[in-house]
Amino acid sequence: MTATEPSASPASSPTASRTLDVQSARLRTLPTYLFHRLDQAKAQYRGRGPKAPLIDLGVGDPDRPTPDYIVSALQQAVRDPATHRYPASKGSAKFRRAAARFMERRFGVSCDPDRHVLACIGSKEGIAHLPLAVVDPGRVVLCPSLGYPVYHAGAVLADARPVGMPMREASGWTPLWEEVDPADVRDAALMWVNYPNNPTGASVPLDFYAQAARFARTNGIILASDQAYSELYYTSDKPESLWKAPGVGLEEAPFIEFHSLSKGFCMTGWRIGFAVGHQSVIDALAKAKGPIDSGAFSAVQEAGVVALENYDHDDIAALRSMYADRLDATMEGVKKIGSRAQRPIAGLFVWAQCPNGPDGKPMDSWAFALRCIDEAGVSLVPGAGFGEDGRHWFRVAMTVEAPAIAEAFERVARIDWSK
Ligand SMILES: Cc1ncc(COP(=O)(O)O)c(C=O)c1O
Repeated sequence: MTATEPSASPASSPTASRTLDVQSARLRTLPTYLFHRLDQAKAQYRGRGPKAPLIDLGVGDPDRPTPDYIVSALQQAVRDPATHRYPASKGSAKFRRAAARFMERRFGVSCDPDRHVLACIGSKEGIAHLPLAVVDPGRVVLCPSLGYPVYHAGAVLADARPVGMPMREASGWTPLWEEVDPADVRDAALMWVNYPNNPTGASVPLDFYAQAARFARTNGIILASDQAYSELYYTSDKPESLWKAPGVGLEEAPFIEFHSLSKGFCMTGWRIGFAVGHQSVIDALAKAKGPIDSGAFSAVQEAGVVALENYDHDDIAALRSMYADRLDATMEGVKKIGSRAQRPIAGLFVWAQCPNGPDGKPMDSWAFALRCIDEAGVSLVPGAGFGEDGRHWFRVAMTVEAPAIAEAFERVARIDWSK
């Protein structure tokens, strides 16, 4: 955005006619947030008078409330005036110990809460700040070509250069680092992977992390894994931690993994997550965060302890089975509109190919998504919003009840895509 200063007489004021660029050059290169365009289309739909209510399968924000026992823990903690003071920026010792215990019990990963764990104000905060901490200006950050936009934005805000790793259906939507220009690999300082994946819903076996670690180590790259969706799984095949991969050890590898309490425990608004990593990377991120933030609210950390200690609570298992029902409804719906999708074994999303358009080929994802809003009052996310490799795909977030998901696809099925 640019603004022009009010002009007095150019002669009397040297700045009078100078155009003021409010945004920094780095900020100007950031794309407009994906959901902005969808929000405009949704507002238009709602503005056109009485219609069927919009069904929003767009944003990955769990619709269910945070479990009661976590809310109660916050209520109790907030009454303690000690929580009203500045928190420990690294996270309280109690929170870091709870995170370490969670890593041990859930993933079988042993870590030292003092050296290997760092609290974040939601994992997004840590993810966005990591490049500031570990990447020099001009160096490359390898980002999945289809992915959470914050990997890209964090690199740009650190004056680093985001480079996409292609992702394709044929290779299970894993990043094809071998296809990256060798010059970019030489310049790379950091590389992101994210499973269960947003947006493709793909999961990976431990061997994937072993391969990623080998590539990172060979090329002197810091590997960062984003596990935001690890607690949403629908088979006995639970998502695993990078730190369980053969040959990857917390004492040896300069890697980091981010965990979030947002999705699995319905706590998106609370802003709490943590990182588990090699001490050098944890110390660097803590140092970068030091002058920026003062840590997550202590009462939220107290509630986070309760969430992590009860990760295997019946309420959490019930949430998973609720998502499994929604997954059934989504897979059914995808079939109903003549589209196809691989059934995910974990995560919050189904990634489906757009139905064929008039030319008999899968439609452009923006054209598809905008017509779904306009003609059916259903909001889905166009795959192109996550990267070029998604231009004929769309993402469904399972964030409404199963009957509403079914209704959404019934409405979309009534659209004539041959026109
Ligand atoms: C892949 C991925 N990572 C991280 C996050 C950030 O989650 P939070 O900051 O709520 O922990 C999100 C949120 O949508 C996400 O999709």
